Amino acid sequence: MKDKALAYFSGTGNTAWAAESLAQMLDGYEVISIPVLLEHPEALENVRDLGILFPTYAFTPAIPTAYFIQSCLPHCSKLEYLFSIATCSKTPGFGLKIVEDLCQRQNCLVSYSDFVRLPNSSPVLGDSGDVETIYAEAKPKLKAIAEAISKSSIQIPRRKFLTKIIIGIYQKAMESSNAANQDFIISEACDMCLVCAQSCPAGAIVEKDGRLVFASPCYGCYGCINRCPKQAISFKNKQTTPRTEISRAFDYAQEEADFLRKLNDADKG
Ligand SMILES: Cc1cc2nc3c(=O)[nH]c(=O)nc-3n(C[C@H](O)[C@H](O)[C@H](O)COP(=O)(O)O)c2cc1C
Ligand code: SF4
Ligand code: SF4
Repeated sequence: MKDKALAYFSGTGNTAWAAESLAQMLDGYEVISIPVLLEHPEALENVRDLGILFPTYAFTPAIPTAYFIQSCLPHCSKLEYLFSIATCSKTPGFGLKIVEDLCQRQNCLVSYSDFVRLPNSSPVLGDSGDVETIYAEAKPKLKAIAEAISKSSIQIPRRKFLTKIIIGIYQKAMESSNAANQDFIISEACDMCLVCAQSCPAGAIVEKDGRLVFASPCYGCYGCINRCPKQAISFKNKQTTPRTEISRAFDYAQEEADFLRKLNDADKG
């Protein structure tokens, strides 16, 4: 495992794209998914420079970001430079401040934080515009972020009015975890390809008696809706058009297998 890592959570591929783009602009960073790191936090033991990349859901960080900070940061005993990057369609809201606060509770200081706007992944928020244009506009922003990080710059988010209250509410939501799964509806268009189950970062979608069942916990990332090739899933009767150009069919089981192979190879080498 390298001593520089970008740990990301991504529901529909935006944040994964941001992490990979940033890694190409920086020197020597390994990109690893947060669901995989939650299973293998020990992999972070030698990391000195760490970036946490996360999507904004309802003005707050996607819940796995908080799980990561709580259970993986204590393994980073050599940490020297910590930064966080939010992706969002409009505004990161309280996200960066919440991440800074959660890191502080683990005795780790965030030195730099910033955000990048990417296409909207929520079926309830509506379309954010042409996907290709938004990605093109995001590249110079990521370049500026990469330059700042390579100089170990310091930039911390401003505390907003109400931040303290929002952090309290967020913590409560986190403890009870999101279980909105009864609001998912599968239409007859479903052909049981299981793309949704393989790409669900929470492992919440299972096949039972030839049918799909949405179990707990659900991270509310809407990856399943965005990726379904048949547009067979809706949430409270709302659907999105599959955005295959950004949604890369993630297979978290495969990501974990690749990661373990890399760790084994490094041990042998
Ligand atoms: C449940 C949900 C809530 C969201 N809330 C916000 C929000 O409050 N502000 C915002 O700018 N974007 C919001 N978005 C859009 C995402 O933050 C944005 O599309 C992000 O880049 C998705 O990243 P991902 O593809 O890595 O999951 C929301 C998306 C979802 C699924
Ligand atoms: S991805 Fe869509 S079609 Fe495939 S199993 Fe899931 S709901 Fe059905
Ligand atoms: S069930 Fe859907 S919305 Fe919930 S975590 Fe899995 S992919 Fe995301």
